[in-house]
Amino acid sequence: MFFVSFVVNLFLHLLKLDIKLTDNVSTYINVRMVCSINIMNKRCLIVTGGGDCPGLNAVIRAIVKRASQEEDWEIVGSIDAFNGVLKTPRELRILSNRTVSGIHVRGGTILGTTNKGGPLAWHVQTDDGRWIEVDRSKEMLQILEEEGIDAVINIGGDGSQAISQKLYEMGLNIVGVPKTIDNDLSATDFAFGFQTAVEVATDAVDKLVTTAESHHRIMILEVMGRAAGWIALYASIAGGAEVCLIPEIPYDINEVREKVESRTEDRRGFANVVIAEGAYPKDGTVISKKLDEIGYRHKKLGGVGIQLKQELEDAGTKADVRVTILGHLQRGGIPCAFDRILATQFGVKAFEMVLDGKFGEMVAYRNNDIVCVPITEAIGTYNLVNVHSNLVHTARGVGISFGD
Ligand code: F6P
Repeated sequence: MFFVSFVVNLFLHLLKLDIKLTDNVSTYINVRMVCSINIMNKRCLIVTGGGDCPGLNAVIRAIVKRASQEEDWEIVGSIDAFNGVLKTPRELRILSNRTVSGIHVRGGTILGTTNKGGPLAWHVQTDDGRWIEVDRSKEMLQILEEEGIDAVINIGGDGSQAISQKLYEMGLNIVGVPKTIDNDLSATDFAFGFQTAVEVATDAVDKLVTTAESHHRIMILEVMGRAAGWIALYASIAGGAEVCLIPEIPYDINEVREKVESRTEDRRGFANVVIAEGAYPKDGTVISKKLDEIGYRHKKLGGVGIQLKQELEDAGTKADVRVTILGHLQRGGIPCAFDRILATQFGVKAFEMVLDGKFGEMVAYRNNDIVCVPITEAIGTYNLVNVHSNLVHTARGVGISFGD
């Protein structure tokens, strides 16, 4: 009997029906087969889009685990953001509790991601070799219908949530989950990924302090953040840097020079400067370049640390200056506990928003609570450092100079 049940179960599994047959044998002759039928008839698609960050896997795991507590939901992941839906053949993966087991501690995303193109601007090469952008959003909605997708959870930053909003306006049942190491997304006090980036940046400051002290040097650490100075500000306070340069407060090189020289005049002291990649001098502009990569629309920031070293030397700074650009180390690796917890809260809430039909909304962390906000609130403006905030006041209070 066991063998018959096993074969039938295997057959049903191959048919992709989640129907379980279990044996309830009382005697060899009197066999009662209990048939519990559980057909998953609703499907939710998970998408991770934009630059990766620690905590994405924790969100995926939380969604899958929460959904498994409902009888009729199947969770499907799209590989490399929405590309998995639009590629031929499609790259969609069914996610089970087993698939996501233990992934909350892993950095990156098991689904892969991209910060290029997308359904609204799909890149196609023409016969003469040029690349053009094609809007494939309508076609994508048709494919989602064909695949029986009832709802989509889009985990991403401002660019991804702008796509969510557009698709929602076209009729897609979509919920947003905010992620960014930059902490620049409005409508949420924090997104996961940021605290881990702060840990990495603070660790770098701590290490640079010791070598700066040994060599009586000025150490410049360039951190990420695009137009927001959050990572630089947090790492400066946590690491005890002397100077913190952020995009929200354009710097005066003479002020920076005075501060670092006051620490290194006798060639015995040392100074640590943290500079955000989007920082710029009062009379200058942000350093950025356009990349040749197909579909990369952003301006690639970076290099301001090297520029600052040159500016300090041109201004007559005598101490030796060294520059460290932290780069993608801030985005990789194991998420810190705070980010794992926040990501897990976001995942559970996002799936419950799907159950409640709260589409066109994004999960958010506000005043120590997990809430829903309209996606439009999140993408309207950037969350930048408030120069009059308590945090900036605190930094100034412990002598950190913003070069202003
Ligand atoms: O938005 C996250 C971020 O890491 C920024 O801090 C940085 O400027 C950018 O992405 C780097 O992007 P990429 O991975 O394309 O180099």
